[in-house]
Amino acid sequence: MGKVILSASGKGGVGKSVFIANMGAVLAERGLKIVMVDMNIGLRNLDLYAGVEGKVVYDVADVLSGACPLKKALVRDRRFPYLYVVPASSAREKFTAGPADVAALYADLRERYDFMLVDGPAGLGAELALAASGVDFAVIVTTLEYVSLRDADMTDRVLAKAGVVRRAYLINKVKKELMGSGLLPTLEDLSSVMRPPLLGIVQYDDNIHLAANGGVPIVAQKGSYIERNLGRIADRLLAMQG
Ligand SMILES: Nc1ncnc2c1ncn2[C@@H]1O[C@H](COP(=O)(O)OP(=O)(O)OP(=O)(O)O)[C@@H](O)[C@H]1O
Ligand SMILES: [Mg+2]
Repeated sequence: MGKVILSASGKGGVGKSVFIANMGAVLAERGLKIVMVDMNIGLRNLDLYAGVEGKVVYDVADVLSGACPLKKALVRDRRFPYLYVVPASSAREKFTAGPADVAALYADLRERYDFMLVDGPAGLGAELALAASGVDFAVIVTTLEYVSLRDADMTDRVLAKAGVVRRAYLINKVKKELMGSGLLPTLEDLSSVMRPPLLGIVQYDDNIHLAANGGVPIVAQKGSYIERNLGRIADRLLAMQG
């Protein structure tokens, strides 16, 4: 039985989709069967980061409404051994499914994949509740700013209330030259906010940004410190699945 891992954040633009695209690539390279599901209803992004936007015909709303079978909405990323994407719908009104339908889709995918990496929406609204229906684990992504940390804490509380028992934090876009400047949250601030364990810290790096915008997960560029760091984060993510 596969596991469903969700990315979530309070604040938008913190790096959830880039994280999912990279974990998908790392885990697929390790021989695991991976499907990435874009649950950013109306704000489809993951297909672009995964470089498969030209192959999208059907989306998750089509599957949930019964307009097409799951098989037709699965887009294969041929650069990796076993990596698929289910794109989000770009028309918000097309998405009429409820939490039970989403949980049923995850249950179906659990039968065929080792990991379902769900790219969640920013914010605490109904979209988050939908994306989180029946997930096993959530990665709350935040940047090292007071607003982002506070929003991450709210997201953590909402997910806990929604029954997502296992959660971890990922701190993204860290600029090491600004750490210790007194202008950003300190490690002490961090530890007082974070209730779930820390999955990892990812540096701000223009190479991550440029690769993502070119539809290439940065982990595909071998030998860099970023690839090693994301590899270790994948190790911890697997270890946290128990
Ligand atoms: N570690 C990083 N270093 C540099 N740029 C990054 C890093 N992580 C993400 N980015 C960039 O930040 C921007 C936002 O990333 P992304 O789309 O993954 O965020 P998101 O949390 O999924 O956003 P949304 O809330 O809109 O879904 C993108 O331009 C991406 O290239
Ligand atoms: Mg996103």
